Amino acid sequence: EGANQGFWAKYGGFFLKGAGYTLLFAILTVIFGSVIGTLLALLKIGHTKIGKLLANIYIEFIRGTPLMVQAFIVFFGTQFFGINLSAFVSGAIAMAINSGAYVAEIIRSGLNSVAEGQTEAARSLGLSNTQAMRYVIFPQALKNIWPALGNEFVTVIKESSVLSVIGATELMFEGSVVQGASFQPFLPMLIVAGIYFIMTFSFSRLLRVVEKRFN
Ligand code: ARG
Repeated sequence: EGANQGFWAKYGGFFLKGAGYTLLFAILTVIFGSVIGTLLALLKIGHTKIGKLLANIYIEFIRGTPLMVQAFIVFFGTQFFGINLSAFVSGAIAMAINSGAYVAEIIRSGLNSVAEGQTEAARSLGLSNTQAMRYVIFPQALKNIWPALGNEFVTVIKESSVLSVIGATELMFEGSVVQGASFQPFLPMLIVAGIYFIMTFSFSRLLRVVEKRFN
Protein backbone atom coordinates (compact mmCIF):
# COMPACT_ATOMS: atom_id res chain seq x y z
CA GLU A 1 0.00 0.00 0.00
CA GLY A 2 2.75 2.39 0.97
CA ALA A 3 4.58 1.67 -2.26
CA ASN A 4 1.52 2.43 -4.36
CA GLN A 5 0.90 5.69 -2.54
CA GLY A 6 4.48 6.54 -3.28
CA PHE A 7 3.90 5.68 -6.92
CA TRP A 8 0.97 8.03 -7.29
CA ALA A 9 2.69 10.77 -5.33
CA LYS A 10 5.62 10.49 -7.67
CA TYR A 11 3.90 10.01 -10.99
CA GLY A 12 0.27 11.08 -10.58
CA GLY A 13 1.04 14.42 -12.14
CA PHE A 14 2.17 12.76 -15.37
CA PHE A 15 -1.13 10.97 -15.75
CA LEU A 16 -3.19 14.05 -14.98
CA LYS A 17 -1.21 16.15 -17.42
CA GLY A 18 -1.64 13.44 -20.06
CA ALA A 19 -5.35 13.18 -19.42
CA GLY A 20 -5.68 16.94 -19.76
CA TYR A 21 -3.97 16.90 -23.14
CA THR A 22 -6.04 13.94 -24.26
CA LEU A 23 -9.20 15.90 -23.49
CA LEU A 24 -7.79 18.95 -25.24
CA PHE A 25 -6.99 16.87 -28.34
CA ALA A 26 -10.48 15.39 -28.30
CA ILE A 27 -12.14 18.81 -28.02
CA LEU A 28 -10.01 20.38 -30.76
CA THR A 29 -10.53 17.34 -32.98
CA VAL A 30 -14.30 17.40 -32.74
CA ILE A 31 -14.42 21.17 -33.33
CA PHE A 32 -12.13 21.23 -36.37
CA GLY A 33 -13.28 17.81 -37.53
CA SER A 34 -16.82 19.17 -37.60
CA VAL A 35 -15.76 22.13 -39.72
CA ILE A 36 -13.97 19.86 -42.20
CA GLY A 37 -16.76 17.28 -42.06
CA THR A 38 -19.46 19.85 -42.74
CA LEU A 39 -17.61 21.17 -45.78
CA LEU A 40 -17.08 17.64 -47.09
CA ALA A 41 -20.71 16.69 -46.51
CA LEU A 42 -21.93 19.79 -48.34
CA LEU A 43 -19.59 19.03 -51.25
CA LYS A 44 -20.81 15.46 -51.29
CA ILE A 45 -24.49 16.29 -51.45
CA GLY A 46 -23.88 19.31 -53.66
CA HIS A 47 -24.35 19.58 -57.39
CA THR A 48 -20.75 20.11 -58.44
CA LYS A 49 -19.21 16.97 -59.88
CA ILE A 50 -15.64 17.93 -59.09
CA GLY A 51 -16.62 18.83 -55.54
CA LYS A 52 -18.26 15.45 -55.08
CA LEU A 53 -15.23 13.69 -56.51
CA LEU A 54 -12.77 15.53 -54.28
CA ALA A 55 -14.90 14.93 -51.18
CA ASN A 56 -15.17 11.25 -52.01
CA ILE A 57 -11.43 10.88 -52.58
CA TYR A 58 -10.71 12.62 -49.27
CA ILE A 59 -13.19 10.53 -47.30
CA GLU A 60 -12.20 7.21 -48.85
CA PHE A 61 -8.47 7.85 -48.53
CA ILE A 62 -8.62 8.98 -44.91
CA ARG A 63 -10.91 6.17 -43.88
CA GLY A 64 -8.84 3.66 -45.82
CA THR A 65 -5.52 4.44 -44.16
CA PRO A 66 -4.51 4.18 -40.50
CA LEU A 67 -4.56 7.26 -38.29
CA MET A 68 -1.07 6.29 -37.13
CA VAL A 69 0.28 6.61 -40.65
CA GLN A 70 -1.56 9.89 -41.16
CA ALA A 71 -0.03 11.28 -37.96
CA PHE A 72 3.47 10.39 -39.19
CA ILE A 73 2.75 11.90 -42.61
CA VAL A 74 1.63 15.22 -41.13
CA PHE A 75 4.51 15.32 -38.64
CA PHE A 76 7.33 14.36 -41.01
CA GLY A 77 5.69 15.66 -44.17
CA THR A 78 5.63 19.20 -42.82
CA GLN A 79 9.26 18.83 -41.69
CA PHE A 80 10.17 17.63 -45.17
CA PHE A 81 8.78 20.87 -46.61
CA GLY A 82 10.68 22.91 -44.04
CA ILE A 83 7.66 23.64 -41.86
CA ASN A 84 8.41 22.97 -38.24
CA LEU A 85 5.31 22.03 -36.33
CA SER A 86 5.33 20.75 -32.78
CA ALA A 87 4.07 17.26 -32.13
CA PHE A 88 1.04 18.87 -30.54
CA VAL A 89 0.11 20.93 -33.59
CA SER A 90 0.90 18.08 -36.00
CA GLY A 91 -1.16 15.74 -33.89
CA ALA A 92 -4.10 18.12 -33.71
CA ILE A 93 -4.00 18.61 -37.48
CA ALA A 94 -3.79 14.87 -38.19
CA MET A 95 -6.68 14.18 -35.84
CA ALA A 96 -8.84 16.92 -37.37
CA ILE A 97 -8.09 15.70 -40.90
CA ASN A 98 -8.94 12.16 -39.84
CA SER A 99 -12.05 12.97 -37.87
CA GLY A 100 -13.35 15.21 -40.65
CA ALA A 101 -13.77 12.20 -42.91
CA TYR A 102 -15.84 10.39 -40.30
CA VAL A 103 -17.84 13.48 -39.35
CA ALA A 104 -18.63 14.03 -43.04
CA GLU A 105 -20.54 10.76 -43.05
CA ILE A 106 -22.28 11.68 -39.79
CA ILE A 107 -23.46 14.98 -41.24
CA ARG A 108 -24.36 13.55 -44.62
CA SER A 109 -26.52 10.83 -43.14
CA GLY A 110 -28.00 13.32 -40.68
CA LEU A 111 -29.03 15.56 -43.55
CA ASN A 112 -30.33 12.61 -45.55
CA SER A 113 -32.46 11.51 -42.63
CA VAL A 114 -34.57 14.64 -42.98
CA ALA A 115 -37.34 13.73 -45.38
CA GLU A 116 -37.10 15.08 -48.88
CA GLY A 117 -40.62 16.43 -48.55
CA GLN A 118 -39.17 18.97 -46.13
CA THR A 119 -37.01 20.50 -48.84
CA GLU A 120 -39.93 20.60 -51.24
CA ALA A 121 -42.17 22.19 -48.62
CA ALA A 122 -39.53 24.81 -47.84
CA ARG A 123 -38.96 25.48 -51.54
CA SER A 124 -42.67 25.83 -52.16
CA LEU A 125 -42.77 28.44 -49.40
CA GLY A 126 -40.34 30.44 -51.47
CA LEU A 127 -37.08 29.61 -49.70
CA SER A 128 -33.98 29.20 -51.83
CA ASN A 129 -32.07 25.94 -51.73
CA THR A 130 -29.51 27.46 -49.38
CA GLN A 131 -32.19 28.94 -47.15
CA ALA A 132 -34.06 25.63 -47.06
CA MET A 133 -30.86 23.90 -46.02
CA ARG A 134 -30.01 26.45 -43.37
CA TYR A 135 -33.39 27.07 -41.78
CA VAL A 136 -35.34 23.86 -42.37
CA ILE A 137 -33.13 20.86 -43.06
CA PHE A 138 -30.07 21.56 -40.93
CA PRO A 139 -31.91 22.32 -37.66
CA GLN A 140 -33.81 19.05 -37.94
CA ALA A 141 -30.74 17.09 -38.96
CA LEU A 142 -28.94 18.34 -35.86
CA LYS A 143 -31.15 16.10 -33.74
CA ASN A 144 -29.41 13.10 -35.32
CA ILE A 145 -26.03 14.76 -35.66
CA TRP A 146 -25.46 15.77 -32.00
CA PRO A 147 -25.47 12.25 -30.52
CA ALA A 148 -23.24 10.95 -33.31
CA LEU A 149 -20.79 13.78 -32.68
CA GLY A 150 -20.84 12.79 -29.03
CA ASN A 151 -19.83 9.28 -30.04
CA GLU A 152 -17.10 10.74 -32.21
CA PHE A 153 -15.81 12.62 -29.15
CA VAL A 154 -15.61 9.34 -27.23
CA THR A 155 -13.87 7.68 -30.17
CA VAL A 156 -11.23 10.38 -30.48
CA ILE A 157 -10.51 10.33 -26.75
CA LYS A 158 -9.26 6.79 -27.37
CA GLU A 159 -7.84 7.24 -30.86
CA SER A 160 -5.68 10.20 -29.83
CA SER A 161 -3.53 7.64 -27.99
CA VAL A 162 -2.02 6.98 -31.42
CA LEU A 163 -0.38 10.41 -31.27
CA SER A 164 2.08 9.05 -28.74
CA VAL A 165 4.02 7.68 -31.73
CA ILE A 166 4.97 11.19 -32.81
CA GLY A 167 5.79 12.12 -29.24
CA ALA A 168 2.75 14.29 -28.61
CA THR A 169 2.01 14.73 -24.95
CA GLU A 170 -1.24 12.96 -24.14
CA LEU A 171 -2.30 10.22 -21.74
CA MET A 172 -0.73 7.27 -23.55
CA PHE A 173 2.54 9.11 -24.04
CA GLU A 174 2.70 10.15 -20.41
CA GLY A 175 1.97 6.56 -19.44
CA SER A 176 4.99 5.38 -21.37
CA VAL A 177 7.09 8.14 -19.81
CA VAL A 178 6.14 6.77 -16.40
CA GLN A 179 6.93 3.23 -17.59
CA GLY A 180 10.43 4.34 -18.40
CA ALA A 181 10.94 6.45 -15.32
CA SER A 182 9.62 3.88 -12.86
CA PHE A 183 10.94 0.73 -14.56
CA GLN A 184 7.42 -0.63 -14.18
CA PRO A 185 5.75 -1.65 -17.43
CA PHE A 186 2.42 -2.87 -16.10
CA LEU A 187 1.03 -0.52 -13.46
CA PRO A 188 1.28 2.65 -15.59
CA MET A 189 -0.74 1.02 -18.36
CA LEU A 190 -3.39 -0.11 -15.88
CA ILE A 191 -3.69 3.46 -14.66
CA VAL A 192 -3.81 4.75 -18.24
CA ALA A 193 -6.58 2.28 -19.07
CA GLY A 194 -8.50 3.29 -15.97
CA ILE A 195 -8.30 6.99 -16.80
CA TYR A 196 -9.38 6.42 -20.43
CA PHE A 197 -12.28 4.38 -19.15
CA ILE A 198 -13.36 7.01 -16.65
CA MET A 199 -13.33 9.63 -19.41
CA THR A 200 -15.20 7.61 -22.03
CA PHE A 201 -17.67 6.01 -19.63
CA SER A 202 -18.65 9.22 -17.87
CA PHE A 203 -19.01 11.11 -21.13
CA SER A 204 -21.14 8.34 -22.68
CA ARG A 205 -23.38 8.39 -19.62
CA LEU A 206 -23.68 12.15 -19.78
CA LEU A 207 -24.54 11.86 -23.46
CA ARG A 208 -27.32 9.41 -22.70
CA VAL A 209 -28.82 11.67 -20.05
CA VAL A 210 -28.77 14.68 -22.34
CA GLU A 211 -30.26 12.63 -25.17
CA LYS A 212 -33.14 11.45 -22.99
CA ARG A 213 -33.82 14.99 -21.92
CA PHE A 214 -34.02 16.04 -25.57
CA ASN A 215 -36.50 13.34 -26.55
N1 ARG B 1 -8.44 3.24 -35.72
C1 ARG B 1 -8.73 4.02 -36.86
C2 ARG B 1 -7.56 4.10 -37.78
O1 ARG B 1 -6.47 3.78 -37.41
C3 ARG B 1 -9.03 5.43 -36.49
C4 ARG B 1 -10.42 5.73 -36.64
C5 ARG B 1 -10.68 7.14 -36.29
N2 ARG B 1 -12.05 7.22 -36.19
C6 ARG B 1 -12.73 8.33 -36.05
N3 ARG B 1 -14.00 8.21 -35.88
N4 ARG B 1 -12.18 9.49 -36.11
O2 ARG B 1 -7.72 4.52 -38.90
